[in-house]
Amino acid sequence: MKHHNQIKLTGCLFLLAAALSYAAPVAENWDNNCTKCHGADGKGQTKVGKKLSLKDYTDAKVQAELKDTDMAKAITEGVKDKNGKEKMKAYAPTLAPAEITDLVAYIRKFKA
Ligand code: HEC
Repeated sequence: MKHHNQIKLTGCLFLLAAALSYAAPVAENWDNNCTKCHGADGKGQTKVGKKLSLKDYTDAKVQAELKDTDMAKAITEGVKDKNGKEKMKAYAPTLAPAEITDLVAYIRKFKA
């Protein structure tokens, strides 16, 4: 019985460590690359974000209108305005495809 609990505890600690090491890079990527415009809270209420009239990612309606594939595409390829002027830079290859997928999931979590 005692031995069994020890195995369970080891398993839990392993999962916890895995979860923590998984969560850190995406939050770091967000903080290092995205908060300047989109804000740490995803509301886009930064000085630059307001100027660019960025979307509020905590807004359920905004979230409903965004598709995962379009979000990943925007992060990967960047966003240009209709005159071809860059609004947001492309994050590939700076960020790996898996990191971009993680950022999409991270943005989803801002939803209030
Ligand atoms: C220089 C400011 C800036 C930075 C830095 C920036 N973005 Fe953006 N982002 C924008 C602008 C501008 C748009 C286009 C909004 C529009 O089309 O009106 C945009 C659009 C997006 C979109 C498409 C959905 C939407 O809101 O229109 C996603 C997803 C996104 N950004 C995620 C990110 C992620 C993740 C990062 C960091 C890796 C990042 N952005 C960094 C300015 C920025």
